[in-house]
Amino acid sequence: MNADTDSFHKAVLPPIAATIASLREQVQKARQAGRTIGFVPTMGALHDGHASLIEAAKSARTFCVVSIYVNPTQFAPNEDLAAYPRTMDADRAKCGRAGAELIFAPADSEMYPLGEQTRVKPGILADRMCGLFRPGHFEGVCTVVAKLLNIVQPDIAFFGQKDAQQALIIQKMVDDLRIPVLIQVCPIVREADGLAMSSRNAYLSPEERRQALCLNHALTLGRDRLLAGEKDMQSITSSMRDEICRVVHFHGGTVSIDYVEINDAVTLVPRDAPFGRMLLAGAVRIGKTRLIDNMIVDV
Ligand code: PAF
Repeated sequence: MNADTDSFHKAVLPPIAATIASLREQVQKARQAGRTIGFVPTMGALHDGHASLIEAAKSARTFCVVSIYVNPTQFAPNEDLAAYPRTMDADRAKCGRAGAELIFAPADSEMYPLGEQTRVKPGILADRMCGLFRPGHFEGVCTVVAKLLNIVQPDIAFFGQKDAQQALIIQKMVDDLRIPVLIQVCPIVREADGLAMSSRNAYLSPEERRQALCLNHALTLGRDRLLAGEKDMQSITSSMRDEICRVVHFHGGTVSIDYVEINDAVTLVPRDAPFGRMLLAGAVRIGKTRLIDNMIVDV
């Protein structure tokens, strides 16, 4: 690397605040300079889906803060907390390229100091879909997001539609707790073959990567059948399940389906007939990797 490219790379690396005090100081400076604050909460292992959230914050002309924190309270004891990819150097470079201006990367002791005991418990939106298979997950998500919103105090926070249930739960939490922030949900970013981008895709072996397309195939099938005017929801969801198994078996694997559902896109209540805005959503386990994906369909 020559001196020019070296200084370019240095110039785009956003500073890292590791403490709440330092984060607040830098956010306050940005506010004093007349900037509005955008916030992209992440657990790191950033991909182009995260970059699209940062770019949305940039398009909204905000001073974009990205948090990188693998939140222990949203993982059950049997889940992948220890194995979750931690790639801070690459994440920092990606943040810089996408236009983030500050990274908040706290230690556990900053987010969950000794003796802390308060949790934010979501309502019935969290009792469906992923909530049934990951007990306590959304309580952990709400708790850390509430803390992060209190710490950063952004004007706008950006979340991905890939975690559709999470986005709805956070919107509800923000409304219910009267947290003064606008939540902007950004579209799913997909690989060229349709796989929804996810930090957990990094776990997939080459064979599993091919099998992982099963969710996108099944959701597309469900969407097409709904748009073609089919009304039998059970038949549609069972054909989606069949499609998941077909794709995975075709690529020589086995799959366990957590759920495949067609729900109201706002309340998440299952639809027994097609109308209005629906969320087609699924979660599957391929090998050790749990993948989720969804599509919105308006009828
Ligand atoms: O979507 C995620 O990456 C996490 O659930 C979040 C919102 C950063 C909270 O830890």
